Formats: sequence, structure tokens, C-alpha cells
Amino acid sequence: MNLPALPRRYHAASIWLLYAAGLAPAAWGFYLGATGQLVGNPVKIFEHLLGEWALRFLTLTLLISPIRDIFGINWIRYRRALGLLAFWYVLMHFLAYMVLDKRLALDVIVEDITKRWFITIGMAAFVALIPLALTSNRRSIRRLGPKWSKMHRLIYPIAAAGALHYCLSVKVIGPEQMLYAALVVILIGWRLVRRYYMERTRGTRTGPASDGQASRAKPRS
Ligand code: HEM
Repeated sequence: MNLPALPRRYHAASIWLLYAAGLAPAAWGFYLGATGQLVGNPVKIFEHLLGEWALRFLTLTLLISPIRDIFGINWIRYRRALGLLAFWYVLMHFLAYMVLDKRLALDVIVEDITKRWFITIGMAAFVALIPLALTSNRRSIRRLGPKWSKMHRLIYPIAAAGALHYCLSVKVIGPEQMLYAALVVILIGWRLVRRYYMERTRGTRTGPASDGQASRAKPRS
């Protein structure tokens, strides 16, 4: 797939643009809620919006590697921003639940986390995301060496827990829940067969993928 390459000088700006665009739904939702423009239950609508964007960013984070492996499009530079956006959305979702929904009633919150399975699973995913967010900087990558990659593979079970949490949060599983669950299963499946695929295609690449451009791997016949 041939996409025009983004000049190097715009790389940093494009990442900042991604952060700004990524946080816009939260800001917009907050603005609508604060100005009384969310019809129905504004707290629930806002909480749901944050949860859905958290899952979207988790899924997008997992998509970056297969896009590079299969299509040769290298958007790795955006992966950290997408992962951090997922983390900020989960944090905001959690805060909206604690502060706006439960009004900091700690007994209710503790009971929810320990007794309602879907919340327990969401909480586990959130807790597991914290070390990943804290070590998403270059210094940690250098300091942890190969341990860093192993640790950051946790993003797969975290996304699976997020999708499961979503499915269990509703009474009837609908197309949206199925879509996220299927995407996460496919992405985890890809991670499991990736090495095999890469070994088969090794040596048939046209060169290292760079930015938004083609170096599509062709399977060896
Ligand atoms: C990776 C972590 C998480 C993800 C991806 C996530 C995502 C979601 C999504 C997509 C929904 C459904 C939104 C909708 O129906 O449109 C949801 C609902 C919910 N989440 Fe999370 N969540 C996470 C963690 C948490 C945590 C840590 C808590 C609180 C401890 C939490 C509490 C809730 C609650 C209470 C609901 C249901 C709200 C309701 O309908 O009453 N979530 N979450």
C-alpha cells in the first residue's frame, strides 16, 4: 500500500496533534455535560463515552503492529500516544464513576469492585495499565531492556479484559460489544501467529518500512 510519506520534520507535531484530537471527545463530552446539553442521564452518558474511547484507543494501540507487519505502514511512532490516550481515558472513566456516579461513596465503590464481576475485571485492567503508562518513556525502555517488551505485552490481556468488561456491563450483548470482542480476539490471534507469518515472509520484503509507505511483505510461495 503506497501512502505519501510524512516528512520527518512533522513527526513530533503529528504526535501532538494526535494527543489533541484524541482528548477532544472527552473535552467535548465534558462541555456538553457541564452546559446541560446531554439529554437523559448526563453522568452515565459521560462515563460511557469515556469507557468507549478507552476501548477504542486500546484497540488502536494493538492495531499498529499488524498494520506494519501486513501492509508495511510504519505508524509505530504513534503507538505510545495511543496507549497513553487509552490510559487517560480509563483514568477519566474511573474518576467519572467514582466522583460523578458514586459521589465518592467508598463503601459502595468497594462493594462494586469486589462483588460486581464486570467492575472487578475493569478495575484489574486499569491497575495493570498503570505500570505500562508509567514506563512508556524512553528512559524506562533503556533501563528495562528486554523486560520492557515482555511487560508491555500485558496490553493484550488488558484489552481483552476491557472488551470483556464492556460485554458484561450490558444485559444483552449487541453488535458494538461483539465488534470490540471480535477485534481483540483477532488482534490477540495475530500476535500468536505473527512470528510464523514474519518467518515465512522474511527475505521477501522490499526494504524496511518507513512512514506511511509500502514495503508490503509478500508470502513466500
Ligand atoms: C481498561 C479498563 C476499562 C475499559 C476499557 C472500560 C470500558 C467500558 C465501556 C466500553 C463501558 C460501556 C460503555 C457503554 O455502555 O457505552 C464501560 C462501562 C462501565 N465501566 Fe468501564 N472500563 C474500564 C475500567 C473500568 C473501571 C476501573 C471501572 C470502575 C472501577 C469501570 C466502571 C464501569 C461502569 C460502572 C460501567 C457501567 C456504567 C453503567 O452503565 O452503569 N470501568 N466501561
